[in-house]
Amino acid sequence: MLICHLPKFLVLLLLLLLCGSEAGAASASREGILLVAFGTSVPEAKSALEAVDQEYRRAFPGAPIVWAYTSQIIRKKLARQGINVDSIGQGLARLAQQGVKIVRVQSLHLMAGEEFAALARSVLLNIQKKPKQFEAVYLGRPLLESRQDAEETGAAILGEMARQRQKGEALVLMGHGQEHGRADLIFEGMRSVLKARDPLAFLATVEGSRTFEEMAELLGKSPAKKIWLMPLMLVAGDHARNDLAGMEADSWASRLKARGYEVQTNLKGLGEVPGIARIFIRHTKESSDDLLREPRKP
Ligand code: CO
Repeated sequence: MLICHLPKFLVLLLLLLLCGSEAGAASASREGILLVAFGTSVPEAKSALEAVDQEYRRAFPGAPIVWAYTSQIIRKKLARQGINVDSIGQGLARLAQQGVKIVRVQSLHLMAGEEFAALARSVLLNIQKKPKQFEAVYLGRPLLESRQDAEETGAAILGEMARQRQKGEALVLMGHGQEHGRADLIFEGMRSVLKARDPLAFLATVEGSRTFEEMAELLGKSPAKKIWLMPLMLVAGDHARNDLAGMEADSWASRLKARGYEVQTNLKGLGEVPGIARIFIRHTKESSDDLLREPRKP
């Protein structure tokens, strides 16, 4: 009697377990991630974004991961080539379509400058337009905010360069920066951390106040004869390929060669430098201010 009832009993138990786990899955809201970068239209530069994507898929297994670019110009240029990349609004809608209820938006900007401010505003405007779309929306901060961020970034860059760069050779990093000075101080913080780790590490910006001339003067006081160039940017796109390493007379590579240095370049975006994606992932996991709720009153 007991033996012939056992299979039925097992089936029932199995059904109960299945129903239980299904109910469990339904009650836990689905989480998804929106990775937001400025974007690039340089095909070779995409490897840095792909590297970040892979790290995120490892860190958040099973979670939908969607990309958005903030640059309209780049999105339009790519669209003309038949490549469609979401805007922030489109990316959020795509996550909603996949049943995501809790969104973690992660800025892949280097610092909270102009682009990050625009990203935050754009996410907030989207939430206002569709307040019922999600249960919670978190915004992960950009790469460089804390001393820890700068130390980890510095260690990652110097570790990456250590494979090629020999003793006595200088490292010159090109950051972007902004002409009105937004983010200048973050660059100064990064520069100071790098300098403390490696006296032959230098940094200047394309548009910020820390200029090439200023950097070159400091470089001139060092004993270095050979220089490694590398972008301090998420991807090695247009700035890295032209303004930094280009053949034209006004690129940093040409200007340094004209000053008598031997110049080598490492055209790797930070996204593909081991250790950098981990910092973004930490920021994604740390973000705990739900943009759908009033800030906690002090
Ligand atoms: Co630019």
